Amino acid sequence: MSRKVAVVTGSSSGIGAATARLFARNGYNVVVNFSRNQEPAEAVAQECRDLGADVLVQKANVADDADCRALAQAVEARWGRTDALVNNAGTTKFVAAANLEGLAAQDFHDIYAVNVIGAYQMIRAFAPLMKKNPGAGVVNISSVASVAGIGSSVAYMASKGALNAMTFGLARALAPEIRINAVGPGMVETPWLQNGLGAERYEATRQMYMKATPLAATITPEDVADACYWLCDGARKTTGEFILIDSGRSKYPVL
Ligand SMILES: NC(=O)c1ccc[n+]([C@@H]2O[C@H](COP(=O)([O-])OP(=O)(O)OC[C@H]3O[C@@H](n4cnc5c(N)ncnc54)[C@H](OP(=O)(O)O)[C@@H]3O)[C@@H](O)[C@H]2O)c1
Repeated sequence: MSRKVAVVTGSSSGIGAATARLFARNGYNVVVNFSRNQEPAEAVAQECRDLGADVLVQKANVADDADCRALAQAVEARWGRTDALVNNAGTTKFVAAANLEGLAAQDFHDIYAVNVIGAYQMIRAFAPLMKKNPGAGVVNISSVASVAGIGSSVAYMASKGALNAMTFGLARALAPEIRINAVGPGMVETPWLQNGLGAERYEATRQMYMKATPLAATITPEDVADACYWLCDGARKTTGEFILIDSGRSKYPVL
């Protein structure tokens, strides 16, 4: 039997890179995808090859439907199957929620294009291939921002809320062949927040986060990767779920 295949969008960095490595370590062939920065993608691809995977490195902007369909065609031509799809590519704009003039309509369009429409287009492009392997799993990387009223901007929070709703609707529509779940990470230690907040605010936020969470810990990319792997490869009877990975912060904040 041929090796299983995992497609992880935005896998040149952070959560996506850790997820691609974990699938590779567990015997999958993987797609390493990026939209702008090829060099880090090639480095992640090499790590996955060193773990025994055959790797396809492909530039694709998930906001561009033609790119999504081209990626699905490339995967079909190379391996003829897709067992796991992790919609991890995301974008945001850092604007305080109270700063109503700080977000223009175009900001919402730009963020939705990647975080919501991008995930939809990837699922649409890969559904025919995934249906060939009943039980195949999709994980959408949402965020604690979708349910907790916190996050880099209101446009980002809304986009992740929409992603959750899409997860629930498509889980119903694409069953029984494809399972679709979402995860909501809290503060993950990746370049995302480091670049968005700057070094000083990042460290202050990190300290605050640890104080406010029952598990007294931020989230690592590997923590999120573990959940993605389980939801795709295990969790045979789980679909349409949203699982928080936030050290207990949103539901059980330290009082
Ligand atoms: N970090 C957190 O605290 C946190 C918390 C909750 C949820 N999340 C979510 O987790 C996901 C990954 O975040 P991260 O922290 O791992 O970020 P990251 O380290 O900045 O990585 C982002 C990845 O996404 C890719 N990407 C961005 N736009 C893309 C597009 N249009 N098409 C394809 N790839 C694209 C980037 O590649 P290029 O550089 O080549 O564009 C990069 O590989 C996002 O969906 C984010 O919303 C993050």
